[in-house]
Amino acid sequence: MAAHESVLLEEAVEWLAPRPNGVIVDGTLGGGGHARRILEKSAPDGRLVGFDRDPGAIREARRVLAGFGERVMVIHDNFKNVRNRIAEFGIGRVQGMLLDLGLSSLQLDEPGRGFSFKTDGPLDMRMDPSEGPSAADIVNGYREEELRELLWKWGEERFARKIVGRIVETRRKKKIRSTFELAALVISSVPASYRYGRIHPATRTFQALRIAVNEELRSLEEFLSSVTDGLDEGARLVIISFHSLEDRIVKNAFRNFQKAGEGKILTKKPVTPSEAEMSRNPRSRSAKLRAFLKIAEEHS
Ligand SMILES: C[S@@+](CC[C@H](N)C(=O)[O-])C[C@H]1O[C@@H](n2cnc3c(N)ncnc32)[C@H](O)[C@@H]1O
Repeated sequence: MAAHESVLLEEAVEWLAPRPNGVIVDGTLGGGGHARRILEKSAPDGRLVGFDRDPGAIREARRVLAGFGERVMVIHDNFKNVRNRIAEFGIGRVQGMLLDLGLSSLQLDEPGRGFSFKTDGPLDMRMDPSEGPSAADIVNGYREEELRELLWKWGEERFARKIVGRIVETRRKKKIRSTFELAALVISSVPASYRYGRIHPATRTFQALRIAVNEELRSLEEFLSSVTDGLDEGARLVIISFHSLEDRIVKNAFRNFQKAGEGKILTKKPVTPSEAEMSRNPRSRSAKLRAFLKIAEEHS
């Protein structure tokens, strides 16, 4: 399996500006790529507290970051709980926080996780497999209107009605259990022109389900609702998002922080990957990075 290639690696670390002697939170450890670079930049004594809700990512990050010893603490939890969790360890305000949202290649490329329509596997999609309903539970259990709303809202899927109609018709006969079954069903319910479009026709359906299964937007909103209290004066918050729904939430939150005099937006426009990065790593194409500086009004 290919390792996860960190998106906007240099840019994220530059905007985060880690220094020795402080604590940085990485809310989305994944393969540990950003975390490692942050630790290198904050040598010899900068500390990093890393979170991930996926136990597999936690194992991988522990392995990759083992050489940094006591400077690293790895916590298996949702980043929405960052404030409480770091307080448990006696850490108050921190020098910076990073979120690199979405999935890692480690998750996407593992058929058993059910995130990808390109490989066959169980329709699961839970980042933390011990938590909550799977995608199959939702596909087979939600009412028709609920499913339609979900595809429409979180997938911005214009053929939601047709796709859900086909899902409901199919599940009356037998449960939909695999990624290939769902992908085939989507393909068979959309017009031919959509089948040969820029993106795979199942992209939006899978995105919507993943967001629902993992309550992704709610976690982001909860994190943002208390994040500035956890930042020191001069601390930076850097967030990389991968679709417009997430980016909108981040953009609006940063605007509200600024209006409330909590600091200033450092990136007037979102930072995007270079052409070279996009061609090397197509997954980076939709990435947008935004950075915020916490600083009291009288200093800004
Ligand atoms: C794009 S990857 C991060 C990659 C990492 N920055 C690197 O350089 O290797 C996103 C990670 O965030 C995790 N994740 C997504 N939402 C989360 C949440 N609400 N709480 C904790 N971890 C989350 C996923 O499990 C995944 O491992």
